[in-house]
This record gives sequence, C-alpha cells and structure tokens, in this order.
Amino acid sequence: MPTEQTQESYFQDKIDREVRIEPTDWMPDNYRKALIRQISQHAHSEIVGMLPEANWITRAPNLKRKAALLAKVQDEAGHGLYLYAACETLGITRDELYEQLHSGKAKYSSIFNYPTLTWADIGAIGWLVDGAAIMNQVPLCRASYGPYSRAMVRICKEESFHQRQGFDIMLTLCRGTEAQRGMAQDALNRWWWPSLMMFGPRDDDSPHSAQSMKWKIKRNSNDELRQRFVDITTEQAQFLGISIPDPELALDPETGHYRYGAINWEEFKAIIAGQGPCNRQRLEARKTAWADGAWVREAALAHSQKRAAGTSAGAPLADPSGVARSGPTGATSAETNLSNPQPAPYVK
Ligand code: 3HC
Repeated sequence: MPTEQTQESYFQDKIDREVRIEPTDWMPDNYRKALIRQISQHAHSEIVGMLPEANWITRAPNLKRKAALLAKVQDEAGHGLYLYAACETLGITRDELYEQLHSGKAKYSSIFNYPTLTWADIGAIGWLVDGAAIMNQVPLCRASYGPYSRAMVRICKEESFHQRQGFDIMLTLCRGTEAQRGMAQDALNRWWWPSLMMFGPRDDDSPHSAQSMKWKIKRNSNDELRQRFVDITTEQAQFLGISIPDPELALDPETGHYRYGAINWEEFKAIIAGQGPCNRQRLEARKTAWADGAWVREAALAHSQKRAAGTSAGAPLADPSGVARSGPTGATSAETNLSNPQPAPYVK
C-alpha cells in the first residue's frame, strides 16, 4: 500500500511529465479543492457574464449585431455548462455549486459587476473583456486536469469570435461620427482598468499562484498575462485611434513591453467583497433565474424518472399492469406512435 507521500510524489512526477490527471486518478485533496475553486469561479463568471450583455440584446443597432450578440450570450451559457460539468467530475454536485454562488461563498469575475451604459460598452466588453479572457484562458487549454483542459479548447475558439465581434463594433464606432467616436472612447475609459483587474492580484499578493503553477493548473502568473494583454491591446487602441486612459503608459525600449500606471487595488478588493456598482443586482438576477427555473428542473426530473421507468420521450406512460399494449400489428404502443402520424386521442 503506497503511503500518502509516495502517492503525492508520483502525482507530482506525472504533472512534471505533462501527463494529464483524469477524474478517476488519485489526486491530493488540495489539488481537488483548488480545481473546484477555480473551475467553479470560472463557470459562475461565464453565467453571470451573460447579464451585462443581455441588457443590450433588445437594443442592438441592427439585425446583424443583434444576431451576433445573441449567439455570443448563448455561447457564454454553453461555457458555463461545460465548466460546471468539468467541475462535477471532481465530486461536487451542480446544486452545491449554485448554492455557493447564490450564498456569496463562491466568487465570480470582478469585471461583471460594472454596468453597461451604452452600446459601445458591448464593443468594449468583446474587445477588452473577451480579449483578457482569451489571454488568460489559452494557457488553461494545457491545464493538468483533463476535463478542464478539454473544455477550455472549445471555449477559447468561441472566445476568439467574441473578441472579434467586439473589436468590429469598436472599429465601426471609431470610423463613424464624432459622437460615435466619443462613445467608443468613453467605453474604453470605463472598461480599461477593470479589464486589467481581471487577471487577479499582483503576483506577490496572489496566494494561490505558486501552488497552482506547480500543479500546472495555471501556466502563467497573473502579472505575466496582464503584461501580454497590455502590450497587445495598446497597439489595437492605436489602430482604432482612441486613447488608453493611462498617462503613464509608455513603451519601454529596453524590455519591449509597455509600462503602465498603478492599478486601483482598493477598488478591486471592494468589488470582490461584494461592494461593486452591480454586485447586488447580478446576484439577485441569478437567484431569481434559479427560482423561476424550478418548474423546468422538476419537469426534467419527472421526465428522466419516466425514462428510467422504461418509457420513451413523448410515449404514453407505461401500463401500470406491466403488460405492453399491442397495436394492430402486434407493435408496442411506442412503436405504434412512431409509425402512426395521427395524433393520439387526448384522454383526460
Ligand atoms: N475577480 C474575482 N475574484 C478574483 C479575481 C477577479 N478578477 N482575480 C482573483 N480573484 C480572487 C481569487 O479567486 C482568489 O480568491 P479565493 O481565494 O477566495 O478563491 C483571490 O482573488 C486571490 O487570487 P489568486 O491570484 O491567488 O487566485 P488564482 O490563482 O485563482 O487566480 C484567476 C485568479 C487568474 C482569475 C484564476 O482563477 C483563473 O485563471 N481562473 C480561470 C479563468 C476565469 O475564471 N476567468 C474569469 C473570467 S471568465 C470570462 O471572462 C467569461 C468570458 O466570457 C468573458
């Protein structure tokens, strides 16, 4: 019987050799907990992240924009579901995960606690927020836990479409009238700093980074990814012809990276402590959706119980006598239903 220590060193060795950890493999309890924490925070972020954008679906300026925004918001729901499913493989239930969100125990990304005031915010979110998400999430496609890394591959492909739709909105506004350029600039002014906060606290204030990187859950530090984001986005803003609201932003010729000003970490801490402009509204919206969806969960449960009891979707309930009824050809009632296009008589 291997000791806990031998198991741990065998586990770390697998990680070091880039062997993926799968749900049935042995893993240290803290690895499991770290994954549940990160994946669930990520799943909640996707689901809460639908709210600020959904606010603009009915007000998108034309059909093309509306269709793209609808598709994007639906994608976020899908991302949440892949991630919840990945998290469930670690031995926690979906209901427990939702409970953690609704009670405020589990975090979700700080960025979704800001309001979307104009249509340009939808452009800025796609460009900056999805841009930051891609920067942070592409390395997660190589996370050491199999179900998480596989979910991330598809998520990243979709995020890249989201980033482009946002940049395209910004480009259209920036090439438009003076008022439209003003809207784009105003959105950049409001979303820039919160986007930098998405990457999490500075490396020396990040309690989880060192262990997460040793376990290869995270592949890069928060500051490293933030710097990459600043480098890429600064040049995109130059292309758009709008200014990043940071007077200290400047290219450092020695490092080839853009230096940037101080992030307001007090604001970040307040947001993750629940005191942002929209925290309460976001959580209320999720709790209401959960309560309003109770009948769907009950119906789905009843349906699956029926199926488990041996009936198929849409077929009449099994005869309580346990004897299958036969149609004229001796077919069972379910088969008769399939081959007979006439609707079954409605029986009260
Ligand atoms: N918002 C809220 N909480 C944050 C945060 C943020 N932007 N950044 C860090 N935190 C929290 C951490 O969760 C942790 O809190 P906890 O101990 O209570 O769990 C604490 O601050 C300390 O931070 P660490 O840096 O030590 O934490 P991590 O090592 O987990 O790093 C992370 C934080 C970089 C966000 C990492 O968890 C991660 O990469 N997560 C996966 C990606 C993710 O969740 N992205 C969220 C956005 S998803 C999205 O944007 C949807 C898209 O459609 C746009």
